Amino acid sequence: MTVGIPIRRLWPEPSTEPLDDATLTALYGRADQPRLRVNFVSSLDGAVTVDGYSAGLSGAPDKRVFGLLRMLCDALVVAAGTLRHEGYRAVRLSENRRAWRRANGLAAYPTLVVVSDSLDLDPAQAAFADAPVRPIVLTHSGAEPPPGLTDVVDLLRCGTGRVDLVAGLAELHRRGLTQVLCEGGPHLLGALTAADLVDELCLTVAPLLAGPGAGRITAGDASAPRHLPLRHVLAADDGVLMLRHARP
Ligand SMILES: NC(=O)c1ccc[n+]([C@@H]2O[C@H](COP(=O)([O-])OP(=O)(O)OC[C@H]3O[C@@H](n4cnc5c(N)ncnc54)[C@H](OP(=O)(O)O)[C@@H]3O)[C@@H](O)[C@H]2O)c1
Repeated sequence: MTVGIPIRRLWPEPSTEPLDDATLTALYGRADQPRLRVNFVSSLDGAVTVDGYSAGLSGAPDKRVFGLLRMLCDALVVAAGTLRHEGYRAVRLSENRRAWRRANGLAAYPTLVVVSDSLDLDPAQAAFADAPVRPIVLTHSGAEPPPGLTDVVDLLRCGTGRVDLVAGLAELHRRGLTQVLCEGGPHLLGALTAADLVDELCLTVAPLLAGPGAGRITAGDASAPRHLPLRHVLAADDGVLMLRHARP
């Protein structure tokens, strides 16, 4: 079944027919080994937001792939900044996508993992309070949780004074959460890049010149460039490009 605005493959082998969900699922897939996949949407001129939010960059094809990537992962990692700013709600998946997960031996929902140094988090936020699976907050040894937070999340403490992302990711793997999807934001991507933890970037490019002002998909301290070869290029009929870059 094809949903909404058609998406076709441009590269490596062009498809004339729109891609159905099964083909898209196979194109993104799950890996045999642990993998950290990052998903972002950007404007043509590199803006990560329009009017402060990612919503102005995202249309139906991006949302379709966004949901599909959630279906494919074990852990959904998001930085506290993005969780707070975008007002993350509880992870929801359609009945079809939950059925796909069950058929593939996965839990009905991925586990939300929030990365925070400060633990300035609201336990009443729907992402925590209504979560279908108890979320994990990845933080460091000295962080003090606000009242009520540990009623709704498990704290995973890695690092002293700052979150140790390498140790945190290793602990997720140890818990069986090997297919990790990170939805940002820019400071977390910057830190993951610096630690050379990014195996894959799925980037939607919206056909929009946002103009100056907004940040990029990455932020924070400078780090060494990392090469990520192109794996596929999809295009939707509304002019959106969807790129998948991944390590060999
Ligand atoms: N276009 C897109 O696809 C997309 C995707 C995601 C976000 N965004 C946009 O990005 C903006 C939010 O960006 P942001 O600058 O707030 O960056 P961010 O990376 O979302 O959040 C930064 C915060 O996350 C936590 N964090 C991040 N990296 C960490 C690390 N290495 N160790 C420990 N904690 C870490 C810290 O939280 P504490 O302060 O709690 O310590 C830090 O203050 C929003 O405008 C959002 O709309 C766009």
